[in-house]
Amino acid sequence: MRIKELLSKGAEQLREVTDIPQKEAMILLGEVLGKEMSWIVMHNDDEICVDERFTKFLERRAGHEPLEYILGRASFYGKEFDVDARVLIPRPETEILVDKAVELAKELSPNAHIVEIGCGSGIISIMLALLLPKARFTAVDISSEALHVSRHNAKKHGVSERISFIEGSYLDGVSGEIDMIVSNPPYIADAEPLGIGLSYEPSLALYGGSKGDEMLCHIIDLFVQKDVKALACEMGYDQRESIALHVKQKGLNIAFYKDLAGLDRGFWIKEKR
Ligand SMILES: C[S@@+](CC[C@H](N)C(=O)[O-])C[C@H]1O[C@@H](n2cnc3c(N)ncnc32)[C@H](O)[C@@H]1O
Repeated sequence: MRIKELLSKGAEQLREVTDIPQKEAMILLGEVLGKEMSWIVMHNDDEICVDERFTKFLERRAGHEPLEYILGRASFYGKEFDVDARVLIPRPETEILVDKAVELAKELSPNAHIVEIGCGSGIISIMLALLLPKARFTAVDISSEALHVSRHNAKKHGVSERISFIEGSYLDGVSGEIDMIVSNPPYIADAEPLGIGLSYEPSLALYGGSKGDEMLCHIIDLFVQKDVKALACEMGYDQRESIALHVKQKGLNIAFYKDLAGLDRGFWIKEKR
């Protein structure tokens, strides 16, 4: 079959699942052939024999499995990270959290100790380690399976010597003074129905408790208890009010940031001076 016919058949199968069926069919075909998209466009009229991996990939995607899990990789902050169903797929809005954390870290000592709660695939700690070459990192996750993925990604990006990975809850097992906590914890309310795409992602990475903001509030409490200098977290678009109330009771000053869609998406807090 010609490439263009394969692509149009594939796109037809994906029409219900994505707004960009042709592009996704092309990405999947490129993966199977080991070719760039530009090669596929240039060879549109070529007759090829494609192996059954393409059919399998299309079936998985037509069943709403995220493209990143099928490919086994995702891009974040311009870098490629390996991902699979053991970890949350990196979201573009989390790049803003990385930027905020870098801004805050620059006000601390260059060799600050930065702790991430809930590292998942490792994207945040790894990017911070690349952007803050003198800082020291501890990355905690409650899921041993997620930690396999983050350790692998740290090795892939050459920063495994600078991040100590710990299996635990919140700050369990973290020793020494902490200068900054950064976290993108699960923040969806337990009863909230999920779209079909999200059902492939680990529920441990999504659900934050009956209200959804319980982990965020506990992280704020730990920030106070441990005399940490700075905290930066991602949150749900509708959690600003409840987080602000929780923080007000503690007499802290909080600042919120928005994502690219203009929705409230996170906050940062600095120690009281
Ligand atoms: C929303 S995901 C974020 C993953 C990654 N940091 C990112 O931004 O893509 C939340 C992560 O928190 C972890 N987690 C859930 N409860 C935890 C807890 N009590 N302590 C530490 N990590 C936890 C989950 O396993 C999951 O990997």
